[in-house]
Amino acid sequence: MSYRQKVFLKQFNKDEFANFRTSYESINPDRPIETAHVKYEDTDPRFRKFIEGIDDSKRSFVDEILPHLGLFLHGPFPLPGKRVTTSAWDCRGKLGAYKATGVIPKLAESRVLDIGCNAGYDTFLMSALGAIEAVGLEPHGFYHQACFLNAVYDVPGVSFMNLGWEDLDPRYFEGFDFVNCQGLIYHVKEPMLLIEKLASIMRPGATLLMETHVLAEASTQSQFIEGAFWGDETYWWVFGAECLMGMLRSAGFKDVRMPLKADCDSRNPLNPRMTVEGHPAGARAWFVATKS
Ligand SMILES: C[S@@+](CC[C@H](N)C(=O)[O-])C[C@H]1O[C@@H](n2cnc3c(N)ncnc32)[C@H](O)[C@@H]1O
Repeated sequence: MSYRQKVFLKQFNKDEFANFRTSYESINPDRPIETAHVKYEDTDPRFRKFIEGIDDSKRSFVDEILPHLGLFLHGPFPLPGKRVTTSAWDCRGKLGAYKATGVIPKLAESRVLDIGCNAGYDTFLMSALGAIEAVGLEPHGFYHQACFLNAVYDVPGVSFMNLGWEDLDPRYFEGFDFVNCQGLIYHVKEPMLLIEKLASIMRPGATLLMETHVLAEASTQSQFIEGAFWGDETYWWVFGAECLMGMLRSAGFKDVRMPLKADCDSRNPLNPRMTVEGHPAGARAWFVATKS
């Protein structure tokens, strides 16, 4: 048994994980599984490469653990035996965003930190795109899904920590060349603090890639969400894009830009523009910035 398998088994508690699953499986339980029809051959070939020539000990590890990991959010991840994780989100479009934002050359030979990495789709992808070290930070139970995949893929340089952005401290995390922070800042009540923490662990000249929910129209203002958005009660902010860019500049980032923006679906069958809670559906946007 490999070192990563042993560490996984030491940390993973089946009952605790079963309990954790209910916390996210209960948000929008009727939402379709986006990867339901994805076959092994349709998964990212970079990830399939991780399991080429895999040994039997890994197959039995997957057989034993996979049934306990339930629904993944990230995916689809290929697994030995031509299996694919059951994943609520189809993350295969992420590569297109890395290309469209122009950051791929920045990943070569870099040390990257992926904040709020979930099961590690971006972490593994950034490693496959050239990062020499890719560290994923995930404070919730998704950390175990990421560690499971890491024990199966065994990619040199990839690691995960069961920590949140609040734990970023330049005494222990420093000099990262690239920070990825997608799908997190609108879940954070103190968004400026998060941005300052990110800046504190990046070397001068390092690149930040941040993705978040934004207002569809150009605005220097942001909306605080009281209640829920798309049924999710941890959605606190919908940022005006210009407001967020100002926040990044105020924390010491330069060359702040928004190379990509895509309108969102309201997920409300009765109104394509407003969510069921009555918020404008907004858009998702990707921001790139350089640490001064
Ligand atoms: C919407 S998901 C985005 C996942 C991934 N970054 C992506 O873009 O696909 C938000 C992630 O942030 C994680 N998260 C929640 N609180 C966090 C915190 N305090 N620090 C870091 N991550 C956090 C959640 O567990 C979840 O995995």
